[in-house]
Amino acid sequence: TWSAANIIDEQVDAIRKQVGDSKVICGLSGGVDSSVAALLVHRAVGDQLTCVFVDHGMMRQDEGEQVIRAFRDQFHVPLVAVDAEQRFLERLKGVSEPEAKRKAIGAEFIRVFEEEAAKIGDAKFLVQGTLYSDVIESGGGTGAATIKSHHNVGGLPEDMEFQLVEPLRALFKDEVRAVGAELGLPEKFVWRQPFPGPGLAIRVVGGEATKERLDTLRAADFILQDEIRKAGLYRELWQSFCVLPDIRTVGVQGDERTYGYVVAIRAVTSDDAMTADWARLPYDLLEQIASRMINEIREVNRVVLDITSKPPGTIEWE
Ligand code: XMP
Repeated sequence: TWSAANIIDEQVDAIRKQVGDSKVICGLSGGVDSSVAALLVHRAVGDQLTCVFVDHGMMRQDEGEQVIRAFRDQFHVPLVAVDAEQRFLERLKGVSEPEAKRKAIGAEFIRVFEEEAAKIGDAKFLVQGTLYSDVIESGGGTGAATIKSHHNVGGLPEDMEFQLVEPLRALFKDEVRAVGAELGLPEKFVWRQPFPGPGLAIRVVGGEATKERLDTLRAADFILQDEIRKAGLYRELWQSFCVLPDIRTVGVQGDERTYGYVVAIRAVTSDDAMTADWARLPYDLLEQIASRMINEIREVNRVVLDITSKPPGTIEWE
């Protein structure tokens, strides 16, 4: 019979057999897949594993700290945390076209990861959080047009000479969550909504992802997440996030004319991200979110709601 505890025992055995006494590295993003994969491998071979967490500066508020706290302090997993914000901001200067942005971030990510892997030295194995659904999807590819080029910690260095350790290959997402919970992964990680590899950079749309705009978006996103969680809706939504278009509008606050940014709220329900429906969030919640954003973030003076489903829209704006 299926149980998370059985899966853990099985995988721990299999990983030990595969890896022997070699070194293993794992790119950790804070997402549920790479987190559970890392914990399984750590359970199996302990400190033969080193995790690499690249903070590209496009993370949500406090996210980097949460990863470091959980893995280094709670689970005592050897963890290299790289603060690469400056490098990525530099690389994104003058880049506003969505695909160019994705490619720039993906390429820089591989460079940083390779540098760190070289410092760790002579690792033979690379952990990937590949799920059963990924295995099926990549088998069925028939040259469909690429709508967006995905950057993904799981799909990292194609030409690096590693053997792959993929302990989640037979599992569905809900099973991965059960295994994560059984391993003691904090619920923030177990139930985290999907977050794209290029992070907030592809949510600062129609222009360059500057530090200022990323900070504004991060502040708005923090308020949205906070209110969605308080309303008990976080798990029901496939994703909920903010988008910051390169648009300013006129407003009035007190007796003052303002000229500030527009924040768009995007919240969808979905089973697999192939299709999605815009979430009917309660009006009172929307009201609360909008007034908090406008009162707490100086740069923002207007909030709008995205009511596009997928198709015809995609979930992300870029
Ligand atoms: P779209 O916008 O194509 O997104 O409807 C579908 C799902 O994929 C996520 N997404 C990404 N995930 N790397 C990722 O790991 C990426 O580059 C990327 N781009 C989009 C998106 O958040 C949604 O869940």
